[in-house]
Amino acid sequence: MDSFESFRESYDDGETVFVEGSQGDCAYLIEHGAVEISILHEGKPTVLATRVAGEIFGEMAIVDKQPRSATARAVGEAVVLRLSEEQFKYRLDAIDPVMGLVLRTILERVRETLLRLKYEIADFGIPVTPGPGRGSGSPPTDLGRKDALDRVRLERDLERGLNENELILHYQPIVDLAGNSPVACEALIRWNHPHRGLLSPATFLSLAEDSYLMRSLGQYVFEQACAALAEIASRRDLPFAKKMRMHVNISPKQLLYPNFLRQIADIAHSNRVETKSIVLEITERLLIDQPDEAMSMLNACIDEGFQIALDDFGTGYSSLAYLSRFPLSEIKIDRSFISNMHSNSRSIEILNMLCSLANTLELRLVAEGIESQEQADAVRQMGCPNGQGYLFGRPMPLAELKTLLSTAAKTSDTVATQGSAIPAQD
Ligand code: C2E
Ligand code: CMP
Ligand code: CA
Ligand code: CA
Repeated sequence: MDSFESFRESYDDGETVFVEGSQGDCAYLIEHGAVEISILHEGKPTVLATRVAGEIFGEMAIVDKQPRSATARAVGEAVVLRLSEEQFKYRLDAIDPVMGLVLRTILERVRETLLRLKYEIADFGIPVTPGPGRGSGSPPTDLGRKDALDRVRLERDLERGLNENELILHYQPIVDLAGNSPVACEALIRWNHPHRGLLSPATFLSLAEDSYLMRSLGQYVFEQACAALAEIASRRDLPFAKKMRMHVNISPKQLLYPNFLRQIADIAHSNRVETKSIVLEITERLLIDQPDEAMSMLNACIDEGFQIALDDFGTGYSSLAYLSRFPLSEIKIDRSFISNMHSNSRSIEILNMLCSLANTLELRLVAEGIESQEQADAVRQMGCPNGQGYLFGRPMPLAELKTLLSTAAKTSDTVATQGSAIPAQD
């Protein structure tokens, strides 16, 4: 079955999509074919415009909550994608707020003009010239159209996936390199797609971040991660579990949502998880783009008890100034440094420097992407206390993490061997 079917509709030539005066709670994007927009005048339809593939129609009912201002019928065979009210409004709000206002005003004026036009047609018989694309400007380019349609498809599919619990978290251990015992784990999202299999965040996260879905996705991740931590901490057979930390990735937009902090604090509280056991992983992008907002938000998170880790340190725009300026608890060294370590002496110098800096600033340090014992030994000898990577365990479902933790509790110095024996999940 086509997973997009629920919001993709096919119409035969002349078939009605909706009629003037009916209520509407969605807009439509035309995927194939064309749609004719008409109004009834003295019982006969007058064509106002013909919308073609890549164009939108039915948007006015969302903007002003009025009944449909015209009738829409397929011209030839037409396929349309339904654009939910939330999808449409998010886009309107996501652009510059002034432009959003301008667009709303234009759309409202179109409705007023339409009503006046109807009145004029009825009273004075002023003709309305029908014609393809009338009033719509030029149709979008092929590339713009394909992008727009793909985004809408994926977005609706992701919304469906979220509602049907297809989004799941995997957990990857972070270990103390001295004894390889787990001290924390990082929650990493996956999409268990019914047709496409297990999808990594690279395939859907940036789309979610740019859509209205990130808020619910972020909340869902936080809830699942807190519930998992509560479950781990309640295990009596895991002596270190009470002190374990849960790392949760927070995208820049999420952190700046109004109510973000209240929401995560409430989730932690309702799961009886101490906020100090939660590490919010942020990236340098946030500190560069919105330093003032980031600073006040991070301080508020710290006041609430949360810890902050700077993720992927060393990629892109790294500045040592952030390390002392922002209220961080931890730095995670990007895995590119670890994988380059033996071929690039600069990586070793930087790693050494970071280890002593973290020590001076009293920041915890985690080396990411450790895949071999050789790498683990090298970073430990440089003074990096913690590590994360396939050597200690791939991201895995909660049940497997619990097994790994039980094994680690029994043989605390052989986690590395156990971890690498765990079948790959990703
Ligand atoms: P990240 O936060 O840097 O997460 C670490 C990534 O490195 C994960 O990829 C993990 O599977 C991978 N990894 C861990 N150890 C090794 C190793 O030894 N070798 C190699 N080659 N890779 C390793 P993943 O799970 O695909 O996640 C990619 C990114 O997606 C994450 O990078 C994070 O930025 C983002 N992400 C994942 N889950 C979430 C989430 O729930 N919320 C947000 N906002 N972002 C998320
Ligand atoms: P809505 O009012 O939701 O339903 C009818 C749709 O027809 C409307 O949104 C617009 O998308 C479209 N429409 C209304 N008036 C015109 C017009 N004058 N020219 C082109 N399209 C129109
Ligand atoms: Ca991370
Ligand atoms: Ca990282």
